[in-house]
Amino acid sequence: MGAMAEPKILLVTVPAQGHINPSLQLAKRLIHYGVHVTFMTAASAFNRMNKTFTTTQGLSYATFSDYDQGFNRRTADLNLYMAELRRCGSQALRELIVESINTGTRFNCVVYSLMLPWVATVAREFHIPATFLWNQQATLFNIYYQSSKRYEEVIENGVKDPMFVMELPGLPPLSRYDLPSFYIPPNPLAFVLPTLKEHFEILDEETNPKVLVNTIDELEAEAMKAVDKYKLVGIGPLMPSNPNETSIGGDIFKVSKEKKEMEWLNSKPKSSVIYVSFGSLAVLSKAQIEEIAKGLLETGRPFLWVIREDGTEQKTGEEKGLSCEEELEKQGMIVPWCSQVEVLSHRSVGCFVTHCGWNSTFESLVCGVPMVTFPQVSDQPTNSKLVEDVWKTGVRLTKNEEGLVEGCEIKRCLELVMGGGERGEEIRKNAKKLKELTREGAKENGSSDKNLKAFLNELSINRQ
Ligand code: UDX
Repeated sequence: MGAMAEPKILLVTVPAQGHINPSLQLAKRLIHYGVHVTFMTAASAFNRMNKTFTTTQGLSYATFSDYDQGFNRRTADLNLYMAELRRCGSQALRELIVESINTGTRFNCVVYSLMLPWVATVAREFHIPATFLWNQQATLFNIYYQSSKRYEEVIENGVKDPMFVMELPGLPPLSRYDLPSFYIPPNPLAFVLPTLKEHFEILDEETNPKVLVNTIDELEAEAMKAVDKYKLVGIGPLMPSNPNETSIGGDIFKVSKEKKEMEWLNSKPKSSVIYVSFGSLAVLSKAQIEEIAKGLLETGRPFLWVIREDGTEQKTGEEKGLSCEEELEKQGMIVPWCSQVEVLSHRSVGCFVTHCGWNSTFESLVCGVPMVTFPQVSDQPTNSKLVEDVWKTGVRLTKNEEGLVEGCEIKRCLELVMGGGERGEEIRKNAKKLKELTREGAKENGSSDKNLKAFLNELSINRQ
């Protein structure tokens, strides 16, 4: 069994909900295998986390400061923020590693997530192995990897030619509409593509570069194979493994203690409820929210809608609240945050209107819930493409000329997915198939479990 007493892994994560959730899930799995995990992120997110996880044995926390209020898109320039994170984070990380060495508790490995290549650089200064955790889907890694030598060219073509199509091994042809938003100017997040290049350069310096991916081998086999230079291994889904395992303690938004929405869901028939959520970062215009409300009301179906307190753009002088609040309350329920995996696992939920963040998409696949997709930025358009054209478990909403998805379009897509037609039946059947496939890969001794054990074995942390 274990070659070393109490092996230690340091997990460093971007301070955003979509990154914290999969990292904490990985922490849980590692702890299950007898590893002591130190979870490190920026203080802004750490201070907001509900931290029910602090009582877990085998887990400790470390933080580094960040200058603003973290990932608050309204106040922070993310380009400056990421530079500041690198500066403060590198310093704090060095101090933490030095302290661990001085106290005889040196880390066996540092696992760092997306957008934090500097973590690997610091770990190497101390000759500690650093492993990259890609907490998005393998397809996206494939896209960034295959085009990494010609980002500028892709951006040029993508803009100039509306008929532009990217053809890559292991992927269906991708239009500009399916590509990650960082390829389509104006891209306000200038740091992203250079940081990805840095990630690849760091991997290139390793002898047998391996990347842990929040996916399942069987789900994205072709995309994974297409990345021939690095070994991608699926260790997902990094989400709670059963609906009762609800709190991972990483929520940076407050979940109400009573969880009235769960009671409300209990009162609804099987597969009847539309669940609507746009993740932790997306901010929708007031006009768009009104259209969603219209569409939901027109379906006549019950819905559970997450509208975060910071999730709506408010113009000065504009009235707060929704124009049809009363009708909405009669037909559905609006909450500021919920325990999403618990909701998606509920038998009453029949469809997920999602922005297609990778966590939400993956959670929906694992729970067998068909989707109506409304991608916003980043990897979300690509996830939407996979949902609609590869896994065929949902449909994408179409915007009008003003860039708005109208209520009638929302109703059309919801009826298509939940109604009696042939396409809806096909989509629901596929959602069930994907649920089985992902559960198979995720179970004990399934591909993800084996891959994680193999990773630990390579670190001489043998777990049978
Ligand atoms: C971001 C990016 O947008 C996403 O594309 C990327 O893959 C990861 O980082 P975010 O936009 O927040 O994340 O979306 P998503 O990846 O779906 O993560 C949101 C997480 O919050 C999910 O794990 C979801 O279960 C959780 N959530 C969301 C809740 O627990 N309750 C809610 O009410 C809403």
